[in-house]
Amino acid sequence: MSDLICIDVTKQFQGEGISTLALDSVSITFREGSFVSITGQSGSGKSTLLSLVGTLDVPTSGQILYGDLPIKNMKKDELADFRFDKIGFIFQQFHLIPTLTALENVMAPIFNRKVEYDKKLRAQELLKRVGLLDKLDALPSQLSGGQQQRVAVARALIQEPDWLLADEPTGNLDSETGEVIFELLRELNREKGCGVICVTHDPSIAERADVQIRMKDGAVIEVIDTRVTGHA
Ligand SMILES: Nc1ncnc2c1ncn2[C@@H]1O[C@H](COP(=O)(O)OP(=O)(O)O)[C@@H](O)[C@H]1O
Ligand SMILES: [Mg+2]
Repeated sequence: MSDLICIDVTKQFQGEGISTLALDSVSITFREGSFVSITGQSGSGKSTLLSLVGTLDVPTSGQILYGDLPIKNMKKDELADFRFDKIGFIFQQFHLIPTLTALENVMAPIFNRKVEYDKKLRAQELLKRVGLLDKLDALPSQLSGGQQQRVAVARALIQEPDWLLADEPTGNLDSETGEVIFELLRELNREKGCGVICVTHDPSIAERADVQIRMKDGAVIEVIDTRVTGHA
């Protein structure tokens, strides 16, 4: 486990004649094992920040460190291995492969990987953990939205990541189902000790995170750390 540290991170997207400053000199530390929410209006840079700390994209300037390891020093292969080992992603649109069963979707990240555990057993255990032991052979189209998202959560956990990065994971779900997914992320954070960074529009979810971050116009404008204030 390690902290994720952003130092003066700027991201500029260059379009035809227009450039967008998606992140404007963001400096923030995500402490290992913490449960963090990120809120802010559409376009404020939330997804961009998540994709940069998830190493899916690179900053225009600034540094991202994993513990004391600068991510930009890693070669392409190293980075892919790093991401595979350390980070699990969960998206609003689930992004399951429609032709694969729930079990196969959970195993998909490790299909072409050498791992030290029994792939199928691990995938079954994870689907059991998210309450879908009776849906191993179901296709995504045969599952509800909430069930599909639980498959996606199980898939994100397959390599026991240090960080779970969730971009509006409840955005496509009704509030009751969203609540189930949120509680699942909370429990996994406590049980497995993985850090969670959860982008959300839902204030009732955001305010229950240990650390609550608000963004505006590409900047972090507020950080509430309930663990710090709780001890004060
Ligand atoms: N790939 C991209 N190319 C050009 N502009 C982008 C790209 N991704 C995001 N942006 C722009 O960067 C800004 C921040 O976007 P984003 O991080 O998606 O915000 P949020 O997730 O908070 O809605 C927006 O103005 C958006 O249009
Ligand atoms: Mg977004």
